[in-house]
Amino acid sequence: MNIQKIGVIGTGTMGHGIAQVAALGGFDVEVQDCNADITNKGVAKIAKSLGSLVEKGKLTAEQANGAKEKIKVVSSLGDFKDCDLVIEAITENLQAKIKLFSELKGVLKPTAILATNTSSISVTFLASQTDRSDRFIGMHFFNPVPLMKLVEVIRGLQTSQQTFDAVFAVSQKLGKTPAAIKDSAGFAVNRLLLPLINEAFFVLQEGIADAKTIDEVMKLGANHPMGPLTLGDFVGLDVALAAMEVLQRDLGDSKYRPAPLLRKYVEAGWLGRKTGRGVYDYTQK
Ligand code: CAA
Ligand code: NAD
Repeated sequence: MNIQKIGVIGTGTMGHGIAQVAALGGFDVEVQDCNADITNKGVAKIAKSLGSLVEKGKLTAEQANGAKEKIKVVSSLGDFKDCDLVIEAITENLQAKIKLFSELKGVLKPTAILATNTSSISVTFLASQTDRSDRFIGMHFFNPVPLMKLVEVIRGLQTSQQTFDAVFAVSQKLGKTPAAIKDSAGFAVNRLLLPLINEAFFVLQEGIADAKTIDEVMKLGANHPMGPLTLGDFVGLDVALAAMEVLQRDLGDSKYRPAPLLRKYVEAGWLGRKTGRGVYDYTQK
């Protein structure tokens, strides 16, 4: 399978980073988001990230400019008709993903691979909602995409070996280390990491320690690069809550129940960095 052009749908926390590494990997890239404001912010974040990688000597100015030139903003799904691989990175909401896959039916070229960056949802089920279940796969990147090395590659029951091999190879071309993971709620990393973030909310709501202390002790006592509440704000509390709900429902175990305080934050619209307020306030920084 010759993959040259990659489409990215959704340019939020993850989509813009995926577009950036795809362009740096030498692919032509098209990006689209239903919210034009977020697309503009995503493009600005790519420029900022590339600039900081140049400053640190990790990229040359030519590489950064070359990557920027490879990214084209498009406005309709029809614009993805020539893409060889389309990566879906929209909101972690089952109904939204089902609707998108329905809208994509008959739009992509027959040979194109469709990948989902979902954090938790069954790849097998999502595949069944598309017009190409054998060419559908989970391609799970980590935040921040330009810095995190891993891509979990998740085969649905229907995914063909050819699709798996092509996506594994593309992940390597993006400078990532792919790992084949079984299709199970939260895959491997989020099965472990999201219950930690969720438990930090229980610790906070029970008054065991305040937010800053919880984060500090996990940095000092467990050598985590950022504390679990800071990480929750970084990931997006809506994403964390949605993924915990999938873990609880699909694995059928009450140990995955979302912390009521996490739910309250999401109800308040305090989603973390992306909304300027989560556990912490980012409006002054
Ligand atoms: N592009 C380029 N550079 C970036 C960047 C980006 N997108 N984001 C951060 N950086 C740079 C910063 O500019 C900074 O550069 P300097 O050292 O020159 O200042 C450098 O990275 C380090 O950043 P910071 O000093 O601000 O912070 P840090 O040392 O803590 O590193 C981090 C940042 C790599 C994000 C680190 O804190 C970390 O690894 N955190 C944990 C991240 C993590 O667990 N991610 C997984 C989340 S779960 C997930 O993604 C799956 C899911 O489905 C929810
Ligand atoms: P986000 O909320 O930051 O961005 C989602 C974007 O999707 C928004 O900009 C929204 O406008 C757009 N969108 C929604 N419906 C759309 C549609 N029909 N067409 C086009 N755009 C649409 O979310 P995110 O954190 O980037 O997460 C995206 C996906 O990646 C989710 O499935 C999430 O679980 C997964 N993921 C997130 C992280 C993380 O740390 N945030 C890490 C790995 C995977």
